[in-house]
Amino acid sequence: MHYGLTHSTFDDNDRQALIDVIQSDMFTMGKHVREFEAEFAQYFGTKYAVMVNSGSSANLIALASLFYRKENPLQRGDEVIAPCISWSTTFYPLQQYGLKIRFVDVDLNTLNYDVDELQKAISDKTRMIVSVSILGNPSPYDAIQALCEKYNLIHFDDNCESMGAKFQGNFTGTQGLVNTFSTFFSHHISTMEGGCILTDDYEQYCLMRSLRNHGWTRDQPENSPIYEKTTEDFFEAYRFILPGYNVRPGELHGAVGRNQLKKLPQFLDVRRKNAAHFVNYFKNDSRFIIPQENGESAWFCFPMIVNPESGLTRPHVLEKLKTANIDYRVITGGNILQHDVSRYFDYTCTRSTNAEIAHNHGFFVGNHPIDIRDKIDHLYNTLKNIG
Ligand SMILES: Cc1ncc(COP(=O)(O)O)c(C=O)c1O
Repeated sequence: MHYGLTHSTFDDNDRQALIDVIQSDMFTMGKHVREFEAEFAQYFGTKYAVMVNSGSSANLIALASLFYRKENPLQRGDEVIAPCISWSTTFYPLQQYGLKIRFVDVDLNTLNYDVDELQKAISDKTRMIVSVSILGNPSPYDAIQALCEKYNLIHFDDNCESMGAKFQGNFTGTQGLVNTFSTFFSHHISTMEGGCILTDDYEQYCLMRSLRNHGWTRDQPENSPIYEKTTEDFFEAYRFILPGYNVRPGELHGAVGRNQLKKLPQFLDVRRKNAAHFVNYFKNDSRFIIPQENGESAWFCFPMIVNPESGLTRPHVLEKLKTANIDYRVITGGNILQHDVSRYFDYTCTRSTNAEIAHNHGFFVGNHPIDIRDKIDHLYNTLKNIG
């Protein structure tokens, strides 16, 4: 039996949605993207959604938009807090926009912020907390929001791995001023490549729409607060107001996204049933540290950390998995501070002990939006007698 990391979510309806776009001969951002955005915002209960061509682009323009707010914008040299574990492109916009990053260690049981460490990291220079709900498991939003309120900090939420997760009854990716999502192939829904940003803030929304589209006014709503329209139509048609990008999605992405979104509740349901099976096998197995749910996880996958005190080593475990035809990989991107790229960051970090343990002893196996309980049995049987 092969137990892979990913599984396609495309069905005939998705394929038909793509074919319909091809036959319409209208490929560039248009009505399908607009409809996807409206439905995505409605599903998660926020006011505005901006679709882009990837979760990485979502992080980029969401961060950029914070530099162009009228009131209290972020500025180069400002200090922001980020967790040691996330995907690389959570951090790159922070570096590219000249921010100082204060890295904070994670809690080994959730892989999200260690709340005590987060509190300690706040200084009078801190302007923003970047939260990341790792691999489906909700961040400690209560603590993060309380800190943001107390110290008047911006809350940036990278929810690219956790679409559909819930914390205290609310969807993750709705708590921040800006909240990013990925719809890459292996994520909870797929638009092949794609991403989205949710916000309730109209100014942020307008800024992000311009930033995704050449910094142009072309895609601005009538009553946009970020510029004043003149009556000179000739120049208004090609008016540039922000140093932006072209990170627009296409109609293929919008059309298939609409279809995929309809399937999200069912995908989540199956993922959670698989997860219950996995947790049942491994929750009392002291050889492995598996995630403790903080709210309702969206169970992107099944992370496992080989307990350094168990006498078992990761190479030994991985060798067994390989022989059993079970695929595995690094937890998200591991500890970013153990990657060469960190030399380009302007950063401080007082402790990264748990992130190092996750990096050096952790791995994950796949969870899919189909019933894979037989594969989880296979995983359990492969690991049950090794020691
Ligand atoms: C936490 C996080 N942020 C951002 C991204 C980037 O998303 P994308 O692959 O769509 O660019 C990912 C990708 O998996 C991610 O895990």
